[in-house]
Parts: sequence; C-alpha cells; structure tokens
Amino acid sequence: MTIVAREGSALTASRPFPTGFLFGAATAAYQIEGAAFEDGRTASIWDTFSRVPGAVIRGDNGDVACDHYHRYRDDVALMRELGLDTYRFSTSWSRVRPDGGPVNQRGIDFYKRLVDELRDADIIPWLTLYHWDLPQALEERGGWTARETSDRFVDYALSVHDALGDRVGIWTTLNEPWCSSFLSYTGGIHAPGRTSIADGLTASHHLLLGHGRVVSALRERDATLNLGLTLNLTVAEPADPTRPEDVDAARRIDGQFNRWFLDPVFGRGYPQDIVADVRVVDAAAVAAFEEAVRPGDLEAIAQPLDALGVNYYHGEFVGGTAPAQPPLPGDAPTDRPVGSPWPAGHDIHWYERGLPRTSMHWEVQPEALTTLLERVWREYAEAASTPLYVTENGAAYDDRPVFEDGVTRVHDDERVAFLRGHLGAIVDAADAGVDVRGYFYWSLLDNFEWAWGYDKRFGIVRVDYDTQERALKDSALEYRRVIAARAIDV
Ligand code: NOJ
Repeated sequence: MTIVAREGSALTASRPFPTGFLFGAATAAYQIEGAAFEDGRTASIWDTFSRVPGAVIRGDNGDVACDHYHRYRDDVALMRELGLDTYRFSTSWSRVRPDGGPVNQRGIDFYKRLVDELRDADIIPWLTLYHWDLPQALEERGGWTARETSDRFVDYALSVHDALGDRVGIWTTLNEPWCSSFLSYTGGIHAPGRTSIADGLTASHHLLLGHGRVVSALRERDATLNLGLTLNLTVAEPADPTRPEDVDAARRIDGQFNRWFLDPVFGRGYPQDIVADVRVVDAAAVAAFEEAVRPGDLEAIAQPLDALGVNYYHGEFVGGTAPAQPPLPGDAPTDRPVGSPWPAGHDIHWYERGLPRTSMHWEVQPEALTTLLERVWREYAEAASTPLYVTENGAAYDDRPVFEDGVTRVHDDERVAFLRGHLGAIVDAADAGVDVRGYFYWSLLDNFEWAWGYDKRFGIVRVDYDTQERALKDSALEYRRVIAARAIDV
C-alpha cells in the first residue's frame, strides 16, 4: 500500500493494482449491434425468441439496440476517452456465417473495421466467439443439444480466425455456458426457450466440447494466441450453516453453477454428486447426457488455458426450506435456476440477508468477489498456472439523467460505489496472492438486457434509445480516474 497526499490536507491510502493489470469494459454482439438483418446477417435464436410473446419485457428485441454496427467509431472514441486498455466484445455467428453456412464477407468486414479502430486507439481487442446468439438455422437442426453444433462452432471459430487472426491475440470461446445451456434449454428463460432437463445437460456438454475443440484448433494454428473461457461463477452460502438442508442447498448451487463447468475444464470430469442429484429427478435425462459424453470428450474439454474469465455479479444465500418471511414480490431474478435439474423435494430457497440490491434485485456483495477469486485460484487455476480475469461485473440501476450546463449527466452514485467496491475486492485478492490480471466492467453501454429488454441499464455510458446519444455517467468518470491512477484510493 502506498500513502499519498490528496488535494487538500487529507492523507488517503492508495492501493495499486498489479503491474500490467488490464482495465476494460465488455459488451456482446446481440446486445449492442443492431443492424440485425443488414449486410447479409440472418436470424439468431435471439431474433426468434425475442419475438415470442411474453419472452422479453415489452416485446423488445435487438433489431436496433445501440446501433453500434453504425456507430462503432464513436463508441471506440468513448473507450479511448475513458482510457480503457482493452475492450471485450463478441462476434455474431449469424453475421459471420449466416444460417451457419458459408462465410459472409460483409459481416466479417465489420469486425475488421472494429478491430482496426480499436488498435488505432491503442485498445486491445478481446474477442468472444459465442455470446449466446446461435444461428436459428442451427437451432432447427437441434441447437446445442446436437453434437454437430460443436463441429459447426469450430468451423465458425476458424473463419473468424482466418479474418482476424493477424490482429486479435486474445480469444474467449464461450461466454457463460451455464446461461446458454441450463437457463436456455432447461429454464426456458433465454433463447431458445426450451424446458427440458435432458436438453440443458446435453447442451452444456456440447458447449464445453465445442470450447475444447476450438481451443485445440486455434492452438494448432497459432501457439502464440491467448485462449480462454468465461464462466459465470458464484459464492453460495447456507442461510444457516448448522442446518444440513441449507448446507446441501449451497452445495447444489455451487455444483451446478461452478463445479459443473470448472471441474471438466480443469480435467476432473463432471461432478458426480450433481449427476446423482439429477438422476433422482430424471433418470432418462441423465442417461441421455451420459450417452452424449463419448470416449475422449473429457480429454477434449480439458485444454490448458491462458485465461480463465470470471463473471461475478452476486452471491447466493440459500436454504433447503422456505424462509419464514417470503421474498418480496418481483424479487425473482431471471438468472435463478428456474426449472433447472434440482431433485424434487429438495428445493432451493433464497433468503434475505439485508444487503443492498441492484435494480435486478441482485445483492451487492463485493467481498464475495475476493472469496470467489481466492477459491477459484487455489482450487483450480493455480495448479494449471492459468491467470484469472474478471471478464464481467456490473450493476443495473434506475438511472435518472439530468441536463446540466448543456450536457446530459447521470449521477449514478450507487454504481460508482459498486464499481469501487468490486475494484477494491480485486486488489484484496491480488494482495492475497491470486494471479488476477484484468477487470471488465459490464457494460460499456446501456444495452439489450436479454429477457429484460431495455428495461435494465448496466452501462457506464447512458444510451438514449430515441436519439442514440451517448452520455458518460459519473461511474464512467470515476472509472477513468481509477484507470489513470492504476490504483484505488480508500
Ligand atoms: C452476463 C452476460 O454475459 C451479459 O450478457 C449480461 O448482460 C450480464 N450478465 C448482465 O446480466
């Protein structure tokens, strides 16, 4: 810790980030690009799903979104203004290979222009290949429940690499496969909106298989690439640690969100306690899943990685029986494992513990990010020497723009506190010996928040969807200050 004098006489402690730490912001293609049917792009599962009545709040969709497809230059200029070191974005499969078919040059050209713009601005492009927008045509052939989709994923990844391999060095295969399997194929909350335990299980396997195959294929092409995977991970705590059913609820949350993905990726196979739990509810689903896991698959999945992306939003405070005080109406977040494969009679219930909440009703608990990073590092990544990056963290609040001195301002004090708290939690983890090398705020821009449509604003930059004007919120100004100092004052 260094002690520095601030303006005025007060002395404050300034806690530096590790040398070389990368500060970034993240987005995803479907959430910001718009231009949904331009230059040869065809439908993804999100174009289809968002048109299903009731699937997305107010029937919103990504047709226009932040119109980033046309405004990417201005958006890169904003990133530069903030001093970002890196920008995490995703490529749209339906733009690059419409319907999962041949390469669409006009689609790939967009990403070339974007990457060139970033590089000219000295911003490192961090490319995610799959952020949930499978071509609808592939869904019609079974989607991620079909093994063939993992082959098509390799073809798509190689096409993106053909075009961008000379100018992008950091590649993430999948973003949050828990969401693109269980939330999408079992919970029915995300596209394609299926509600089958077997489908969620097999989708998770084919996603991980696709990940492993893409890592091998890209590695074979270019050993210098930085290759990784991003998982949404959590910290599950029992409401009462002396109650076995609460401890068990926490075990199951940890098993399904964290271990289901971390274990196979780090060469330990699927967690058998979760397989056994699911067998109690749906033995046929487990049989289908076990049939999908073919000889050699677990080895294919367990590729050495150069980066493990951790997306952290909130923890889980759970019990095995319903709390005496029922949750508030509307307190049912969409990323809960609704309809996911929990054994019947072993429900998981969320308890209130008095933490502040965001407008998603997610708890704000920055110290759990330290706990999470320490745990993932010690139990998984350290032995494999895989550095960690917080590839997403952020908060939605009901922002109120004000017009002051001729400019739009958003005094988003809660988001400022959220950002500072989580950046501090990362410094804590680094000080405790965790190799954590970067942070990406979610999101650069307000954008299409999936089933919540445009209702929830996560951006540090406000987007006025009527005019497409952007305005830096106070959180953006604070982030710029931290980035410039490469330290957080406390
Ligand atoms: C995780 C997802 O990757 C991103 O797409 C989403 O908008 C944020 N979480 C906020 O829910």
